[in-house]
Amino acid sequence: MPARPESVRLGHVVVDVRLEEETPQRVLRQIRADLLRTPREIAPRFFYDDRGSELFERITELPEYYQTRTERALLHEISGDVARRCGCPVLVELGSGASSKTRVLLDAFADAHGCEVYVPFDVSEGIVRRAADELASEYPGLSVHAVIGDFTHHLEYIPSEARRLIIFLGGTIGNFTPAQARDFLTRVASVMQRDEYFLLGVDLIKDVATLEAAYNDSQGVTAAFNRNILNVVNAVADADFVPQAFEHRAFFDTVEHRIDLRLVSRREQSVRLRRAGLLLLLRDGDEIRTEISVKYDQRLTRELLRDCGLELVEWYTDPESLFGLALARRPSSGAAG
Ligand SMILES: C[S@@+](CC[C@H](N)C(=O)[O-])C[C@H]1O[C@@H](n2cnc3c(N)ncnc32)[C@H](O)[C@@H]1O
Repeated sequence: MPARPESVRLGHVVVDVRLEEETPQRVLRQIRADLLRTPREIAPRFFYDDRGSELFERITELPEYYQTRTERALLHEISGDVARRCGCPVLVELGSGASSKTRVLLDAFADAHGCEVYVPFDVSEGIVRRAADELASEYPGLSVHAVIGDFTHHLEYIPSEARRLIIFLGGTIGNFTPAQARDFLTRVASVMQRDEYFLLGVDLIKDVATLEAAYNDSQGVTAAFNRNILNVVNAVADADFVPQAFEHRAFFDTVEHRIDLRLVSRREQSVRLRRAGLLLLLRDGDEIRTEISVKYDQRLTRELLRDCGLELVEWYTDPESLFGLALARRPSSGAAG
């Protein structure tokens, strides 16, 4: 039996806040550079203040948003198999949010061999603290070691004292371009030991109507989530974006096989970002891209993993092939295939 991580005591919650190590200057430089690009962009991590995380949880319950319920049902089917194959005492979840699907895996781990430590890793502190407390009380004996950080910068803070299954669910990998996804997964693979496992959730390529409906819900929750990114940038950069002066737009780009989420200026306007030293002049109809969501299939997922030194061990999907879960491994020796 591998040793238990020493920094966490059984049944306890530890929260490491790593975002403080991020210089505000770096964040502000990123905001400025992204807004000066063509098309203008705001990084999706700025969706997730407490309100953004709450809105995302509401999105996951919308009838049009098939992703979460499909992935959850698939996890119910396959978690036993995943737990038996991996046999890891530590479960790490990147972009864990409310950890709502994690319980399915924790239950399967409990049946198979037990889970000693759960490591939720997310940029949104409030929701992670809530989830950590809930899970520690629901699973007696489980230790929770949360990391509040940016998974594109702080992966080295994932505890590494015992064998881990690292999971990255919700199709969040789709928020990276394929080149960024390769860069990110190469870094994930580099912090993994040989014979550790990785479970990746990918939203699958499908008909345009289903995809576009998922990002244009009839209740306008996705539109509110999209506009909320401007409130977060206002707080971070001391800016004066008026969210209602922007229209929500989401469309499927069939060439790049990705959803493109944008905010469209409803009028000519100027926006001052004081801390970022930027005065933004927008014309009526000018757009800011806030998210992409690249869709995958089995071949693209296998190739992505292989390019990053990970070997696809098992591919799982639902009967309608809406969503995929790829179990991968850092091979003990030889090239990933
Ligand atoms: C699409 S949600 C998925 C949440 C959850 N995993 C699920 O499947 O429902 C993306 C999650 O990743 C987190 N996130 C986004 N960018 C991040 C970053 N750069 N570093 C750490 N967490 C990030 C968000 O706070 C959010 O909880």
